[in-house]
Amino acid sequence: MVTPDKKRVAFNRPYQGKRAAEYVQQALSSHHHSGDGPWTLKATQELAQMLNGADVLLTPSGTHALELACMTLDLGPDDEVIIPSFTFTSVATAALRSGSTVRFADVDHDTLGLSLATVVPLVNRRTRAVIAVHYAGRARDLQDLRDYCDSQEIALIEDAAHALGGALEGKPLGSFGHLSCLSFHETKNLSCGEGGALVVNDPQLLRLARIVREKGTNRFDLFNGYVDKYTWLGPGSSFLLSDISAAILCAAIEDFPVTQNRRRSASQGYDAGLDDFIARTGFTRPVQLPNHLNSHHMYYMLASSDAKRDAILDHCRNSHIQAVFHYQSLARTPFGSSIARYADPTPVSDDVSRRLLRLPLYSDIPDQAVAAVIAAFDGWRP
Ligand SMILES: Cc1ncc(COP(=O)(O)O)c(C=O)c1O
Repeated sequence: MVTPDKKRVAFNRPYQGKRAAEYVQQALSSHHHSGDGPWTLKATQELAQMLNGADVLLTPSGTHALELACMTLDLGPDDEVIIPSFTFTSVATAALRSGSTVRFADVDHDTLGLSLATVVPLVNRRTRAVIAVHYAGRARDLQDLRDYCDSQEIALIEDAAHALGGALEGKPLGSFGHLSCLSFHETKNLSCGEGGALVVNDPQLLRLARIVREKGTNRFDLFNGYVDKYTWLGPGSSFLLSDISAAILCAAIEDFPVTQNRRRSASQGYDAGLDDFIARTGFTRPVQLPNHLNSHHMYYMLASSDAKRDAILDHCRNSHIQAVFHYQSLARTPFGSSIARYADPTPVSDDVSRRLLRLPLYSDIPDQAVAAVIAAFDGWRP
């Protein structure tokens, strides 16, 4: 057995909901272990409330939610999907699996996500979808992006894996796109180990999404008493989350107000404690965005150079602090460059991928861990 390093501040620790064990036991004792049972229903109703009443379909992961979104839109080889170059590979692989062409857009410097300015020049008659990833739960001008997509008959998919609990102009992130994707991976604000959800904001897409999610059938209609036999209606896969995982998710949802508060105060602790470090080193923190409610998914900074980023990560490692880098610019990866059909420049993505670092932040991070991180940063002399 590996002995845990007691001094080490982990980047993430999976959160266990206060009533998770009790709910899992109830789910196990029930006669419904597969998907779409009572715990799934409870979780989706509660998530729907957080998302302005949208329809929510639980999936086995955020990656599956993205794949389900692309299949629901029936994307194919004639289509192009615009995604940010600075993002997680699942965004690209979901579009690729649909057979469509991935077109890498650069990101906005302040949000590290797509903006109208980075998307519009890449749109052509083959563009069928835009996947806007709310990096660190940050976004702006989303309604403008949605309006633009509507005007061009392009689907807007939000990747809100980092964004649950955040809002823009009073509207929850995840409720702007025709479809949105959530992740309940253990690193996310809400976790059930592995899990995700497709949020359907456009009611016209709901029936198709249900069919694709249920192996191309209308099993949903059977279970809800609308038909007495189900049948095969089209392409699909199995995109359901087990009800046992949904029980874990329900416990996490119940604690969400408390865990969001913890994330907020830990972030505020970093804000206050790192002022001197920032002034001394020339590292930068994200600017405040107008009318934006932070999801406090992540605490990140940009180093003044890639060498300084690597040096502080080394220093953190030596100080038992697990600070980490993040995405590569996908367009610059060996596979990304091999599939890119266009030579679109992505200077911001390329630059931030070399300078970004993330600090430990999780749903029950103790004050002592935050203090230890701040002390390590204070002790760094470049
Ligand atoms: C922005 C983003 N999208 C999608 C995913 C995929 O989520 P999952 O790990 O649940 O498949 C992640 C995972 O970290 C992510 O960060």
